[in-house]
Amino acid sequence: MNEHAQPTKSEPLFNPLAPEFIRDPYPFYDRLRATDPMHVTPFGIIVASRHSEVSLVLRDKRFGKDYVDRTVRRYGPQIMHEPAFRSMGHWMLQADPPDHARLRGLVVKAFTARRVEDMRPRIQQVVDETIDRIIDRGHMDLIEDFAFRLPVTIICDMLGIPEDHREVFHTGSRNGGRLLDPVPLSPAEIKAANDNTLNAEMYFKQLFDLRRRQPGDDLTTQLVQAEEDGSKLSNEELTANIILLFGAGHETTVNLIGNGLLALHRNPDQLALLKANPSLMTNAIEEFLRYDSSVQSTGRVALEDIDDLGGMRIPKGEMVLGLLGSANRDPSVYPDRPDQLDITRPNVKPLSFGGGIHFCLGAQLARIEAEVAITTLLRRLPDLKLDNAENPTWRPTFVLRGLTELPASW
Ligand code: HEM
Repeated sequence: MNEHAQPTKSEPLFNPLAPEFIRDPYPFYDRLRATDPMHVTPFGIIVASRHSEVSLVLRDKRFGKDYVDRTVRRYGPQIMHEPAFRSMGHWMLQADPPDHARLRGLVVKAFTARRVEDMRPRIQQVVDETIDRIIDRGHMDLIEDFAFRLPVTIICDMLGIPEDHREVFHTGSRNGGRLLDPVPLSPAEIKAANDNTLNAEMYFKQLFDLRRRQPGDDLTTQLVQAEEDGSKLSNEELTANIILLFGAGHETTVNLIGNGLLALHRNPDQLALLKANPSLMTNAIEEFLRYDSSVQSTGRVALEDIDDLGGMRIPKGEMVLGLLGSANRDPSVYPDRPDQLDITRPNVKPLSFGGGIHFCLGAQLARIEAEVAITTLLRRLPDLKLDNAENPTWRPTFVLRGLTELPASW
């Protein structure tokens, strides 16, 4: 735990965009779990911080996304004309049954454990090429120069984005994120989100034309064919879900690698243990996910009146935010020093990929990408040191937790 981040009594219990919260949310979570585990924010959102309620909300069919009604309640009916919000309304991530199963069913096969395991050699190749490119420099930003390239390249492969279109994605800025935060967006942020959505729509429409003319062994081709069938997928759903796939696996995985490397370097005993025993890597990845998850929370709406959730009555239509990062450190599930990084911890089952029907489609892909990236880095740059492990800069978003940069030298 970071000693400079202890909350004071006068601070609001949950203020997720405050700089001290962004820097180290965990003492704030401890206080929420201990004093007000079903906290109601000034915006009227119920914040669940204990593992039991977070886990239940994710899996219980009485909760859903209720995306359109929930968004209109917060911003007013005109919001659904904004391109970014309209597009998100078609994401499987925001869909309830039965649309959810239809949308997820169209792509789920590409993400099975077996299909993803087959991608391991390609993942290894991308990581090796990334290190080859910088190894003589003696210095890099682990986020920009190392972690960023891998997930972008792999999702471009999966979507069949041609090599000569990729540079714009590789150099693109990572400015998503605020869209997911539980604090309303300003008009300027809505405009920026709209611009991003419209640009992405424009690009992917060209890609759809290309894949109609030149089908490939990729997800875009599969989805374009499902759209042509007419009954399975509308054109708007096609575009929106490609944008989702492109975005969802991207910053989250960069941040798993970045947060994991930071945690390791802040705990030199664990770093030494992992270097000496690379076979601990699979468990170490689960522990990185638990210890400092790159997704900190997700929400659900009560689809009916709920008599008792953690001692609270939840009326139909109310939003419950599940703090995944807090559940991951709940001492009732992790009784042995939950605030410590312990790569040998038994039974680590973090909620970082969610649970229930929306359980992360890319979980296995993210795990393998992080495993290959961190294993290879430790092997090929064994003397690498972080320039500023104590006070790195965090991105100013809450739901997506990650570093702006992580300079390192060797
Ligand atoms: C460390 C990396 C990742 C983390 C922590 C993460 C986390 C999550 C979480 C928490 C959810 C569920 C949200 C909810 O229940 O509301 C989710 C859903 C999803 N994730 Fe990931 N994710 C990661 C990587 C990926 C990757 C690599 C991909 C794909 C390339 C991906 C694609 C998706 C999709 C499509 C969904 C929506 C699934 C559905 O609604 O059925 N994610 N992810």
